[in-house]
Amino acid sequence: MQTQTEVASVLLHALAARSTTKPVNMPPSFISLLHHLPFLLLLLVLQILFQLVPGSPSPILHYSGATSVNHTAIPPAAAVPCLPDQESALLRLKRSFVSTSYSSFAFRSWRDGTDCCHWEGIECGEANGQVTTLDLGDCSLESSYLDPAVFELTSLRYLNLGGNDFNLSDPSSSRFERLTSLTYLNLSNSNFKGQVPDRIGRLANLVSLDISGTFEIVEIPNVGYKYKVPYFDRWLLTVQNFTALVANLGSLRELYLGAAVDLSHQTEWCDSLSKYTPNLRVLSLPSCRLHSPICGSLSALKSLSVIDLKFNGMVGPFPNFFANFSFLSVLQLSYNDLEGWVSPAIFEQKKLVTIDVHENHKLSGSLPNFSADSYLQHLLVGGTNFSGTIPSSIGKVKSLNELGLNAVGFSGNLPSSLGELKSLNILQISGLGLVGPIPSWTANLTSLVKLQFSRCGLYGQIPSSIGQLINLRQLIFAYCKASGEILPQITNITQLQVLVLASNNFTGTVELNSLRRLPNLNMLDLSNNEIIAIDGQDNSSEVSSPNILFLKLASCGITQFPSILRHLNEINGLDLSKNQIHGTVPQWALEKLTDLGLFFLNFPHNKFTNIGRDNILPFYAEVLDLSHNMFEGPIPIPQYSGGVLDYSNNMFSSFPLNISTQLWHTSIFKASRNNISGSIPEYMSNNGIEFLDLLQYP
Ligand SMILES: *[C@@H]1O[C@H](CO)[C@@H](O)[C@H](O)[C@H]1NC(C)=O
Ligand SMILES: *[C@@H]1O[C@H](CO)[C@@H](O)[C@H](O)[C@H]1NC(C)=O
Ligand SMILES: *[C@@H]1O[C@H](CO)[C@@H](O)[C@H](O)[C@H]1NC(C)=O
Ligand SMILES: *[C@@H]1O[C@H](CO)[C@@H](O)[C@H](O)[C@H]1NC(C)=O
Ligand SMILES: *[C@@H]1O[C@H](CO)[C@@H](O)[C@H](O)[C@H]1NC(C)=O
Ligand SMILES: *[C@@H]1O[C@H](CO)[C@@H](O)[C@H](O)[C@H]1NC(C)=O
Ligand SMILES: *[C@@H]1O[C@H](CO)[C@@H](O)[C@H](O)[C@H]1NC(C)=O
Ligand SMILES: *[C@@H]1O[C@H](CO)[C@@H](O)[C@H](O)[C@H]1NC(C)=O
Ligand SMILES: *[C@@H]1O[C@H](CO)[C@@H](O)[C@H](O)[C@H]1NC(C)=O
Ligand SMILES: *[C@@H]1O[C@H](CO)[C@@H](O)[C@H](O)[C@H]1NC(C)=O
Ligand SMILES: *[C@@H]1O[C@H](CO)[C@@H](O)[C@H](O)[C@H]1NC(C)=O
Repeated sequence: MQTQTEVASVLLHALAARSTTKPVNMPPSFISLLHHLPFLLLLLVLQILFQLVPGSPSPILHYSGATSVNHTAIPPAAAVPCLPDQESALLRLKRSFVSTSYSSFAFRSWRDGTDCCHWEGIECGEANGQVTTLDLGDCSLESSYLDPAVFELTSLRYLNLGGNDFNLSDPSSSRFERLTSLTYLNLSNSNFKGQVPDRIGRLANLVSLDISGTFEIVEIPNVGYKYKVPYFDRWLLTVQNFTALVANLGSLRELYLGAAVDLSHQTEWCDSLSKYTPNLRVLSLPSCRLHSPICGSLSALKSLSVIDLKFNGMVGPFPNFFANFSFLSVLQLSYNDLEGWVSPAIFEQKKLVTIDVHENHKLSGSLPNFSADSYLQHLLVGGTNFSGTIPSSIGKVKSLNELGLNAVGFSGNLPSSLGELKSLNILQISGLGLVGPIPSWTANLTSLVKLQFSRCGLYGQIPSSIGQLINLRQLIFAYCKASGEILPQITNITQLQVLVLASNNFTGTVELNSLRRLPNLNMLDLSNNEIIAIDGQDNSSEVSSPNILFLKLASCGITQFPSILRHLNEINGLDLSKNQIHGTVPQWALEKLTDLGLFFLNFPHNKFTNIGRDNILPFYAEVLDLSHNMFEGPIPIPQYSGGVLDYSNNMFSSFPLNISTQLWHTSIFKASRNNISGSIPEYMSNNGIEFLDLLQYP
């Protein structure tokens, strides 16, 4: 488990490189997602979902001061009306956008012959009729280029073109250097492709520069994570020379380049910022493909208040000098590969609101003694090497909203003061050395949306009062020592989307159809307990169908294909390993799998003999594990190749012919211990397969 994210992040980058050569019929983009199976560490890949993400997770800090932009402070109506050249430049800009309902709305006041200083999104300077503000932010406009007319507005101080679609055009030759008064430049989420214009580097008055994209990491419990880009693709922009870009930006206070700008070749980014932008307050470079360590010289940037470097795969020691940044309010370093010891002093920064270092497996530390004057809202150290006890003083931090203590190294007693944190929305606890029963105070945390106890030493029954947590969306008790029957009270929590009770010592019989009373359920994992899962009463007409996308029922004593699958529209992951299901995989089940979004299909250790009528299975699977069954005939291959295919320990008799297209994406292929004879097909060696196990192949 320790290496999952590291491997995943490596795979992520490998895939990004590979995606330029993907076959046309594959989904447009991929991301990596990890998955752990008993025999081998399997990696699987999730499709990026082009969905709208409500609200960017990145915090926005409002600064004030002499050079800051105060939009409302500028007089809206200047005495002198708009100058003709300014008006004509604006009208040319307007015409460069495709005419849509969005453009009609955005430009509803932009009419020929009216004072442009009064147009929507425009402000003019003091008594000279020059346009100083052009704000077209979030107007959903479309254009195939950035019209040079913008650069005739040479008095501009504020320019926001973010949230419009420039259709992958290259902005690199745009004449930004003409806008010498610019203090605020926003080109976020604009779908530019190519190079960040190096002429931006000549804007010596720039205070805020935003060229970021938006993304979100969705964590899928017990499976991995999913990287979502809501609007456009990521890393469309590169920087020719980062040092040259920032060398003259001494006034810069905010820099946002996340997910849009690829800085993987700009190893000097950190030293250059330290040297040239001494006033930086917001450093926001999440998902910029930074891999090098955080440089020591960054300690010079003492004004930093927001540091967001998450999801970069950065290596090297944790920079403890952050403990000396007295304005620090947000420290976001999750999903990297940092190591070393985190100084407890960092938690004591008086202004700290967010500290998130989760998913840095080599990062060690322990929790400090907390004080009641802390403003901490988000404290996340899961997936790290943090250890020690969870101090009772944590109950003093009443502002806590998200508490992620899911690091396996925690030990001792779980303080009951946690039950006093009434504002908690998210509580995640791990610790193999934690002792004691599963606490009953969790039922008092009625604001909880996500409750997770995983990889912990806590034992006993889940308290029945859990049914009072009716706001829960995710309930996870996994890899602990919970026992007893799975409570009927859980079906009281009707908003539940994720129910993971895997790898405990639960007993009794579970009627899968009773879980259909949870209409929002999209992940169910009951694997590896002592339970027997049966279909139960199937009142299909009475109950609405849940939309379960991930169903994991490994080792649940199942003897026939679960009928709950009949009621699902779509399956993204199905694990039925280590059951006693025999015979043919039913045709109706295969039909549920035809969607492009199937990420794993795990059937090992059953008694299956057949799957489908054709050698080409009618679905796309990233991981297909049919090993340790009694399958016969030719090896079947998913329609679009999986990353991992395991056919070992069956009675397959031959390889299918001409499947090289299907194997395009496969990196692990195992077919040992079958009844195959003949020679190894040539396509096997012509593909990108990195691990080929045909041991005992005659
Ligand atoms: C901006 O200026 C207006 C009017 O002068 C003032 O009310 C407001 O507080 C200022 N905002 C900031 C963030 O300085
Ligand atoms: C840039 O513009 C977008 C869209 O209007 C907005 O969401 C974002 O907050 C802006 N960035 C900054 C730093 O103001
Ligand atoms: C975007 O670019 C493509 C290809 O260059 C072109 O076919 C399409 O018309 C452009 N769309 C807009 C809105 O300019
Ligand atoms: C990048 O720009 C800096 C400053 O302009 C210059 O000293 C350096 O040589 C440049 N680096 C490269 C690789 O061109
Ligand atoms: C913090 O600053 C003090 C005084 O400048 C210095 O002595 C100390 O070493 C610094 N701590 C870290 C972790 O950099
Ligand atoms: C994890 O922390 C322990 C001490 O708490 C330390 O002995 C061990 O070396 C750390 N492991 C890593 C990989 O840093
Ligand atoms: C927290 O306080 C306890 C006693 O109150 C002490 O033993 C412990 O060392 C302190 N821990 C830290 C990290 O300061
Ligand atoms: C839950 O809260 C109530 C009222 O605040 C309190 O009386 C009770 O002891 C708490 N229960 C637990 C288990 O902490
Ligand atoms: C079920 O939910 C209701 C509120 O909708 C709550 O009053 C009741 O105590 C819950 N039942 C159990 C068994 O937790
Ligand atoms: C699981 O529960 C059963 C019955 O309650 C008990 O016999 C067994 O020892 C438990 N196993 C573990 C690993 O705790
Ligand atoms: C299904 O119907 C039976 C008898 O008609 C009833 O006892 C049972 O509670 C129903 N189950 C569900 C899940 O509604």
